[in-house]
Amino acid sequence: MVDKLTRGATVADVGCGHGASTILMAQAFPASTFVGSDYHPESIATARQRALEAGVQDRVRFEVAPAGGFSGTGFAPVTMFDCLHDMGDPVGATRHVRGAPADDGTWMVVEPMAGDHVEDNLNPVGRAYYGFSTLLCTPSSLSQDVGLALGTQAGPSRIRDVTTAGGFTRFARVAETPFNRVFEVRP
Ligand SMILES: C[S@@+](CC[C@H](N)C(=O)[O-])C[C@H]1O[C@@H](n2cnc3c(N)ncnc32)[C@H](O)[C@@H]1O
Repeated sequence: MVDKLTRGATVADVGCGHGASTILMAQAFPASTFVGSDYHPESIATARQRALEAGVQDRVRFEVAPAGGFSGTGFAPVTMFDCLHDMGDPVGATRHVRGAPADDGTWMVVEPMAGDHVEDNLNPVGRAYYGFSTLLCTPSSLSQDVGLALGTQAGPSRIRDVTTAGGFTRFARVAETPFNRVFEVRP
């Protein structure tokens, strides 16, 4: 994927919020173009302003769109940073992503560090995430259609189930930090 982005590809950064990840990727891969989307208009306004300030506006555009309806196809890859669990209908979003990528159809999902069982998360990072989950992420999901409410501590098995239900067949943990896990999801 690094080779592909270095040569030049188009990336969809879904649930991009203020565009931090979109802009960082644009700075890291000057031959590639990026389309950030988020359902929250005020966040997209901030993202556009930040892209201008970062001087990457010629290769980065943003749209207001839900994850189940962002525009375009031919993306390689689609990325989601810390947002799949915030969505009301992550399975619906997965189905839409399934129709969007080109080439090998890779989707990179970054989610909070979590295990599959409550006892895996009884540590300082897990405690902080349960706090965010209760006050922000779960209400965000419940406020949307379907309201699946994965929460921050869904864990890899639950995330894999969502991607499988949405039409993907391959799922791998490819990297992790103390705070996040990175999954590679493929058709
Ligand atoms: C924790 S923030 C992460 C933002 C960004 N990816 C980042 O890493 O800085 C979660 C984002 O998911 C977005 N979001 C929640 N539900 C969404 C949906 N159904 N469609 C698109 N974006 C959604 C929120 O508006 C918010 O910007």
